[in-house]
Amino acid sequence: MKKDTQCVHSGSYRDGETRGVNTPIFTSSAYDYLDRDDTPYPRYFNTPNQDAVVKKVCALEGAEDGVVFSSGMAAMSTAVLAFAGSGDHIVLMDELYGGTHAFATDQFQRLGIGYSFASTDAESLCAAVTERTRVIVIESPTNPLLSVIDIRKVAAFARERGITTIIDNTFASPMNQNPIELGIDIVVHSGTKYLGGHSDMCSGLVVTSREKMVRVRTLARHLGGSLDAISCYLLERSLKTLALRVGRQSENALRIAQFLKGHQGISRVYYPGLTDSPGYAIAKSQMKAFGGMVSFELDGQPDTTKFVRRLRLISPAVSLGGVESTICAPAVTSHLKMSAAERKRIGVTDSLLRLSVGIEDAGDLILDLEHALGTVQT
Ligand SMILES: Cc1ncc(COP(=O)(O)O)c(C=O)c1O
Repeated sequence: MKKDTQCVHSGSYRDGETRGVNTPIFTSSAYDYLDRDDTPYPRYFNTPNQDAVVKKVCALEGAEDGVVFSSGMAAMSTAVLAFAGSGDHIVLMDELYGGTHAFATDQFQRLGIGYSFASTDAESLCAAVTERTRVIVIESPTNPLLSVIDIRKVAAFARERGITTIIDNTFASPMNQNPIELGIDIVVHSGTKYLGGHSDMCSGLVVTSREKMVRVRTLARHLGGSLDAISCYLLERSLKTLALRVGRQSENALRIAQFLKGHQGISRVYYPGLTDSPGYAIAKSQMKAFGGMVSFELDGQPDTTKFVRRLRLISPAVSLGGVESTICAPAVTSHLKMSAAERKRIGVTDSLLRLSVGIEDAGDLILDLEHALGTVQT
């Protein structure tokens, strides 16, 4: 099946009795254990609604097995800790989502895990590997600067050395990038973003090989960050339109990035689909389209709050990936916990805005940006 078809059909649970076309919502947290081996239990990640979501995302990512979590951070933290413990070392990209960055800086030392941050290029990342490195964590495109890293290079380097690779594929979504095909071991998603797609639920996924999943599932059962049946149902329903939503968001984002690039009120645009973007060649070699996220800097000493307040269609909001366009200033939202010096070092400036492009008409969104840019400049 092609991906558009997988979005609709893969994993769905057909109820033989009613023959309804949708997976029923199984709210039971207690199941008959007689005459069966793997009795469902929500925290064991094996209920019918959890299975339906996991099968769909596994189909989309080309993975063998997976687990659906209650948040993206539950997914990321479980995946990382399943493969690294006291005495081990982890290499991470410095441009990671702020929550993943904070997880490393707040927790790894206490757990006896050594770690190094490397800049967003395959050479720097590989150079940061030591004899004790067990895990490499990457994100591509990154939040919020949309940098891309050569995934094939990192994966091949790590595989030769028996190092487990984990990628946060949230920004690309499975429609635009499939890292397992590029050699990555473990794919993590914040399902709160594109997979959920309607800004109304929180979830996360880890998908990988059957072999690697054994460790992830064991730790996941101990840590317990599972997703309830109703949220699983919502997520499964949303995934049916993932191809349509992300296709439209990617088209809109490219048009908006091109518009912003030509506007005198904008000093810099970050979008891997712009042909003069530093990551364009790599992005083109590993992504199908370039996704719905565009970041940009207002020119001069701008008041980003004033600009955001002038927008009439695009809403100020911290999350991303919904059908509605939203915008935020990373320095005071997703990257607030990072020190000002560190933010400056990785390029998250005070004039940076991160736009999550929705499925609205691109012309309407451009008019909204044009209006706000005009009023900010006067
Ligand atoms: C790229 C990325 N990864 C992971 C997360 C964490 O996801 P969640 O909030 O579902 O835990 C986020 C949240 O903003 C994100 O943007």
